Amino acid sequence: MPGLFSPFELKDVTLRNRIAVPPMCQYSAVDGVSNDWHRVHYNSLARGGAGLVIVEATAVSPEGRITPGCLGLWNDEQAEKLAQIAREIKAAGAIPGIQIGHAGRKASANLPWEGDDHIVKTDPRSWETLSPSAVAFGSNLPQVPQEMTLADIARVRNDFADATRRAREAGFEWLELHFAHGYLAQSFFSVHANQRQDQYGGNAENRGRFLLETLDAVRHQWPENLPLTARFGVIEYDGRDEETLSEAIDLTKKFRANGLDLLSVSVGFSTPDSNIPWGPAFLAPVAVRVKREANIAVASAWGIDAPLIANQTIEKGELDLVMVGKAHLANPNWTYQAARDLKKEQASWVLPAPYAHWLDRYRVSQ
Ligand SMILES: Cc1cc2nc3c(=O)[nH]c(=O)nc-3n(C[C@H](O)[C@H](O)[C@H](O)COP(=O)(O)O)c2cc1C
Repeated sequence: MPGLFSPFELKDVTLRNRIAVPPMCQYSAVDGVSNDWHRVHYNSLARGGAGLVIVEATAVSPEGRITPGCLGLWNDEQAEKLAQIAREIKAAGAIPGIQIGHAGRKASANLPWEGDDHIVKTDPRSWETLSPSAVAFGSNLPQVPQEMTLADIARVRNDFADATRRAREAGFEWLELHFAHGYLAQSFFSVHANQRQDQYGGNAENRGRFLLETLDAVRHQWPENLPLTARFGVIEYDGRDEETLSEAIDLTKKFRANGLDLLSVSVGFSTPDSNIPWGPAFLAPVAVRVKREANIAVASAWGIDAPLIANQTIEKGELDLVMVGKAHLANPNWTYQAARDLKKEQASWVLPAPYAHWLDRYRVSQ
């Protein structure tokens, strides 16, 4: 039975362990271009021992950024800078992944530490947002988006394909489509955001169409031998959970049939009127159900950062990969810490020699 420190193979990629750093926006880019902040950040995460480091939500088009500080992959300068980060993650022994997405009606927001709300429309830094329907998210994000035309839908789908090509050329080996968290793709799936009357709205099949078409467009640009994955909000905690979950599982089966290799199971965040049962590993039982019913490899995050629990979810076969987010911001060497806690490995197994040599020789108290 594999444990947290067992390698994980998916297509032609082998992760050195079952620990992944999920995408976490740094809100520190200018014009979508990464810089030294991102380099140091991703380097330290990769050197810390995780098997997979996924670069934060990277917008496929300018209006698809969550904030003005978000990364983009709609031009070659952005791709060139990201190629350096991909090379460095790889050199540190982790697999370089990237999440590409479009923020939909949650775009044009202030940085989290500057309000986390929509930039007011009179501010020249704001922009028009796009969504399946002209329905605002509400709460701190009141801007009413433009309803996408069929031409808009085709354009954004192509933007996903173009960004995929750039990600591949930049050397990323793991692609994650952002179909979660109330952003554009999740909004198509969500009854809270999608009130369209055409082939992209209404029943579950229509609400899944944009996601399936995007997957298809991306599939043609992404090598067959590398993992193609998505993060998808399969539950909203809005009182209609059974219905959403079973629709999401049906759609996941179609994703798998159309070439998706793994689903990162997450929350929809499509409505402010939800009642999320925050707590350690609260989403794990949902991920287990998706894995069993859709018969697909799964990863999940959300409070799975106690090494013992993380290890158990892998040993019991509940998850294939554990995503450890904020705990990695607190300690980029979380993997080493977990190895010590579980009394599993020597430092040389998870850290590069310039650190491991000393840590194996001298017991460092912590
Ligand atoms: C600073 C920060 C930025 C995040 N950015 C993203 C993102 O770009 N894409 C995404 O899918 N989730 C994002 N998330 C969610 C994380 O990937 C993760 O799911 C969440 O932090 C829960 O896992 P944890 O309890 O291990 O932190 C972000 C979370 C944080 C704290």
